[in-house]
Amino acid sequence: MTDLKRLAGEFAAQYVESGMVVGLGTGSTVEHFLRRLGERIRLEGLSLRGVCTSKSTEAASIRYGIPTIAPGDAAAIDLTVDGADEIDAAFSMIKGGGGALLREKVVASLSRVEVIVVGQNKVVEKLGTTFPLPIEVVPFAAGVVRRSLERFGNVTERMRDGNIYLTDNGNAILDVRFRNGIEDAASLETALDRIPGVVETGLFVGLAHRVVIAKDDGTIEVRDCPRC
Ligand code: A5P
Repeated sequence: MTDLKRLAGEFAAQYVESGMVVGLGTGSTVEHFLRRLGERIRLEGLSLRGVCTSKSTEAASIRYGIPTIAPGDAAAIDLTVDGADEIDAAFSMIKGGGGALLREKVVASLSRVEVIVVGQNKVVEKLGTTFPLPIEVVPFAAGVVRRSLERFGNVTERMRDGNIYLTDNGNAILDVRFRNGIEDAASLETALDRIPGVVETGLFVGLAHRVVIAKDDGTIEVRDCPRC
C-alpha cells in the first residue's frame, strides 16, 4: 500500500528555499517532511531556521540536523508545513490529534504561507464527521468545560498510559465527537474560545494557504486556497 504520509510530507520539502524561516509542524506526516529537509540541508547546503510546534518536533529537528529558533526570534515565518486530521473544501481544518494544537496555531498565525500535508483520507466534506475535535483546557477547569461541551456530542478527556494526557504546555485535552459534524467552523471556534478554561481549540479557520494531498494511486494533488 502507498504510504500517503510519506508521499505528501516529502513532496512539501521542495517548497523550502535557502534563507527562509520555516515553521515545523507536528505529526507523522510532517516527520517525513523533516527527514527530507534534513537531507536537503546535508546534500544541498540549504540554509534555514526552523520554528518548532512541539517538543517532539524539537527532538526530530535535532535528529535531522535542522537548526531552530524560538518563535519570538523571527520577525515572521516565511513558510510552515504542517499536517491535519481533517480538512474541508474551504481549507478549514481539525488539528490536534497529536496534542500540539496550541503551538501549531501560534506558528500558523505567524506564517506567510501555511502548507498542509495530508493523505486523501483526511479530506472531508464536513468537519467533525471522521475525527473528534481536540480542545486544550487548563486542568483545573477540565470537568467544568467538559460539561459545557456535552451539548455538542460525546466528550472524552484524553489519557495516556492510564494517566491524564498533558500537552507540552501542561494542559489537558478534551476530545469532542460531534453528533452531526460541524456546521459553521468559524462561529463554533468563537463560541468555544469564550468558555472560561478553554486555552485553544483544534479548529483552524482561514490559516491554510495550500494543501498537498497524496492520493491512493500514488499521485499528488496540490490545491491553493480559493480565497487567498
Ligand atoms: C498534531 O497535534 C496534529 O495537529 C497533527 O498535525 C495532525 O494530527 C496530523 O497528524 P498525522 O500527520 O500524524 O496524521
